[in-house]
Amino acid sequence: MSQLPNCVTSPPWWQLITWIADPIKFQVRCQKKYGDIFTLCLSGMGPYVIMGNPQALQEIFSQDARCFDAGRANELARPLIGSNSLMLLDGDRHRRERKLLMPPFHGDRLQTYAQKICQITQQIASQWQPGQSLIARTAMQQISLEVILQIVFGLSEGERYQQIKPLLIDWSNMTDSPLSSSLLFLRFLQKDWGPWTPWGKMKQRQQQIHNLLQAEIEERRTMGAELSTDILSLMMAARDENGQPMSDEELRDELLTLLLAGHETTAILLAWAFYEIHKHPEILKKLQWELVQLGDDPNPMEVAQLPYLNAVCQETLRMYPVIPVLFPRITKSAMTIAGQFYDAETTLMPSIYLVHYREDLYPAPHQFQPERFFERQYSASEYLPFGGGNRRCLGYALAQLEMKLVLATAIAQVQFNLAEKQPVQLQRRGFTLAPAGGVRMKVIENGLIPKKEIALL
Ligand code: HEM
Repeated sequence: MSQLPNCVTSPPWWQLITWIADPIKFQVRCQKKYGDIFTLCLSGMGPYVIMGNPQALQEIFSQDARCFDAGRANELARPLIGSNSLMLLDGDRHRRERKLLMPPFHGDRLQTYAQKICQITQQIASQWQPGQSLIARTAMQQISLEVILQIVFGLSEGERYQQIKPLLIDWSNMTDSPLSSSLLFLRFLQKDWGPWTPWGKMKQRQQQIHNLLQAEIEERRTMGAELSTDILSLMMAARDENGQPMSDEELRDELLTLLLAGHETTAILLAWAFYEIHKHPEILKKLQWELVQLGDDPNPMEVAQLPYLNAVCQETLRMYPVIPVLFPRITKSAMTIAGQFYDAETTLMPSIYLVHYREDLYPAPHQFQPERFFERQYSASEYLPFGGGNRRCLGYALAQLEMKLVLATAIAQVQFNLAEKQPVQLQRRGFTLAPAGGVRMKVIENGLIPKKEIALL
């Protein structure tokens, strides 16, 4: 057995608690002490090599996909999203399922979603009243959930559709603090003692969501899914090499994965974007000015090409990683990475945060500076908000389009004040990192902001 690099020496149970409570501060402390590659030993979960070194990441991302397993390393997510989720698959099955799910999230299909995203944003934003206080993350979740439900199910109305929305929100809110998130990491808490206990309640909500998804799948079967173009229909029409369709359990787990991964993450990033542009009014003004240049009623795809809007979204994604580390990669055979030898079955975890806050890549990393993306091109191992290699986020193109269009549509329509007095911190929310408190905002005015006013800003 070869030695793992820079093992953190505190007791494993303490490392696990610190990892659950504040994975960012923990990583930063370890990096200061041990450098940008070090090994955590999390009680009950084994050793994890954390990597904040672009050279090491470049080597990982460029290896053949068969060199690592990531699905079986996502074991913690199994009770939530099920064994058939793309996130838990490896090898041929992972490759096949990714190929199947990829097309609806890329290329021409995105154009058809663009108009929808703007309409949904306008419709939800029109309900925000002057004087009203909003939690940005919650408001953005309303929009992103609507977007993903329409794209995945192709539905925007109906009883089932109305039922699933509050259930998904309620379910994801069950782990909205570091304390409640421990439910996902500590197996001894995962006992179903009835609906009044945290795990029991979680399982009950999950069953309700499963029932609704199952009912939708059955209805589609009787309707003839081949008539629709949404993602559920596509999955139902797909056949493997033996001509077999996906089972109901497979369909259900993939649907749940897309619904969850596709709305929480985007809502969190949008909340951070609102936070930063309202903290820096000069950035908001520049954005509004850029938008005005496109004239009345601009084409959404033109909006998505705006360079400053793009830089603002990129900088938001840099500063606020949505997960503390990428999916773990388990080496399938012994290998050397960045000069260090690793045995087979070693778990490597690339850290988005440690890379995105490197002074040598991002000078003054704690400052929000969209301009840095005009000054330098970053490689895939220097800028990795959506991960990399064969596990790169399936929804990265949709997520970026959505961020830009929601932001542009909302700031053209509504004026806000930031209601936060103190800097907002990253806080664990289940498997994700979100703004603590969600970012409080106050609506000042609602109605299209006259161009003349923007010109004077
Ligand atoms: C701003 C929003 C988002 C961010 C920052 C984000 C980030 C990520 C990251 C970091 C990973 C892990 C990649 C790795 O380990 O290399 C991931 C995986 C994934 N994401 Fe996203 N994501 C976002 C939105 C979405 C959306 C909109 C969808 C789909 C509707 C989606 C679906 C997925 C799926 C299915 C995977 C697993 C891929 C696999 O295992 O092959 N994500 N995402």
